[in-house]
Amino acid sequence: MHDSQPVTVVGIGADGWSGLAPASAEAIRAAGVVLGGERQLGLLPAEVRARRVAWPSPLLPALPGLLREHAGSGLCVLASGDPMWYGIGVRVIEALGTERVRVYPHPSAASLACARLGWAVQDVDCYSTLARSEFALLAGLAPGRRLLVLCADGRAPARIAALLDSHGYGESTLTALENLGAPTESSTRARARDWSGNTGSLVTLAIECSAGPAHSRAPGLPDSVYDSDGQLTKRHVRAITVSSLAPLPGELLWDVGAGAGSIAIEWARTHPSCRAIAIERDPERADRAERNAASLGVPGVDVVRGAAPEALAGLSTPDAVFIGGGLTAPGLLEGCFAALGAGGRLVANAVTMESEQLLLGWHAKHGGDLTKIEIARPAAVGGFSAWRPALPVTQLVVRKEEQ
Ligand SMILES: C[S@@+](CC[C@H](N)C(=O)[O-])C[C@H]1O[C@@H](n2cnc3c(N)ncnc32)[C@H](O)[C@@H]1O
Repeated sequence: MHDSQPVTVVGIGADGWSGLAPASAEAIRAAGVVLGGERQLGLLPAEVRARRVAWPSPLLPALPGLLREHAGSGLCVLASGDPMWYGIGVRVIEALGTERVRVYPHPSAASLACARLGWAVQDVDCYSTLARSEFALLAGLAPGRRLLVLCADGRAPARIAALLDSHGYGESTLTALENLGAPTESSTRARARDWSGNTGSLVTLAIECSAGPAHSRAPGLPDSVYDSDGQLTKRHVRAITVSSLAPLPGELLWDVGAGAGSIAIEWARTHPSCRAIAIERDPERADRAERNAASLGVPGVDVVRGAAPEALAGLSTPDAVFIGGGLTAPGLLEGCFAALGAGGRLVANAVTMESEQLLLGWHAKHGGDLTKIEIARPAAVGGFSAWRPALPVTQLVVRKEEQ
C-alpha cells in the first residue's frame, strides 16, 4: 500500500457493526489500520483484521502526527454518526485534502433525533456544545422554534435548562435523547424550569421553545437589552450602522472602541458564521461587552482589551471595520482603512466636532459616503409633548474598491 491510497473515514453509530451500510463495513474490512475512539473500536467484530489504534486525548493536536504515521498503511478513521457534521472527517480533510480522503457517512445524531421526534431536519437549528459555548443557542431562541443541541457531556442538559430558564424560556419542553441507535436508547422529557439531574454522556437535547422574550436578528435591538454605562450606540443609529457595515455570512468585523459591544454583537447575530473582534481600552467595558455577547447568543465575539491603533496589530484581516471610539487617535482612521482587503467597508461615526472634522477631511481627500443621522424621541414638556433630539451623528462609509 502506498500514500496515494485514500484514507477512509467511516461513520459508525451506537448500533455498531450491524447498523453499517455494506460499503462502510467493506471500507473497514479493507483497512490495514483502524483509528478510532476506544468505544468505537469496541464495536468492531473479530473479523476486522486491521491493527486497531485508539486515539489519545486530546485528539486534535495529535491528529496530524497520527495521519502522517498511518496514512500509507490503508488507514480508516472511525467517526461517530456523520463524519462531516461536527465530526472528525472535517479535520482529516483539513489535514490531507479532499482528494486523499473518502468519507462514508452514517445518519447523524440530528437525523436520528428528528426521526424519533417527527421533526423536519431542515426546520431545526442545530448546535454543539463541543464546537461552541452553550450560550450560542440563546441566539436561536424564539417562540415555537425547535433546536437540537449535541451535548459534550451528561451535565450539559441541566446547564442548558437553567440557561433557558434564566433567559425567560423556562416553559420550553426539553427532551434528552440518550444513546440514539443503541439497544440502551432512552429519552427523558421535562420543562426547562423543572429539569433536574444529569444524563449519560451520549446525549442530544431537543428544545421546543415556549413563549419567551423575542430578540430579533435584525439590527437595532432595544437599548435595554444591553448592560452599559451609557457608552452605547443607540438603537436607531445602531441599526443604520450595521446596515452600512453590510455583513455577509462568514465575514469578520473589527468594532473599534466597542463600548458595550453592541455593534460587534448585532453584526455577529446576523448569521452564525459572522465573526467579530471588539476592541475596547476600558477593562470594565470590555468585560461588560463580553457578558453582553454571551447573553445575546454570540459568545464567540472576541474582545480585545487595549487601545487602538496599537491593539489592532496582528489581528486577522477584517472585511469591515467600525470606528465608534478613538477616531482622534493619531493614525487610527488610516490604519483601519489600510487593514481592509479589497471590497472591505469602513464605517465611522462621529459625535464631536473634532472627530467630525476628521471625517470631513478624509471625505474631501478620498471620497466615500457621508450621512448626518438626526434622531428625535418624544419627551414631556410641561403638560405637553415635544421632540427631544439626540446628538446628531455624522457617519462616513467607505468601500475599499472606491479608492
Ligand atoms: C461611544 S462608545 C462606543 C459605543 C459602542 N458602539 C456601543 O454600542 O456600545 C466609544 C468607546 O470607545 C472606547 N475608546 C475610545 N478610544 C479608544 C481607543 N483608541 N481604542 C479602544 N477603545 C477606545 C471608549 O472607551 C468607549 O467605550
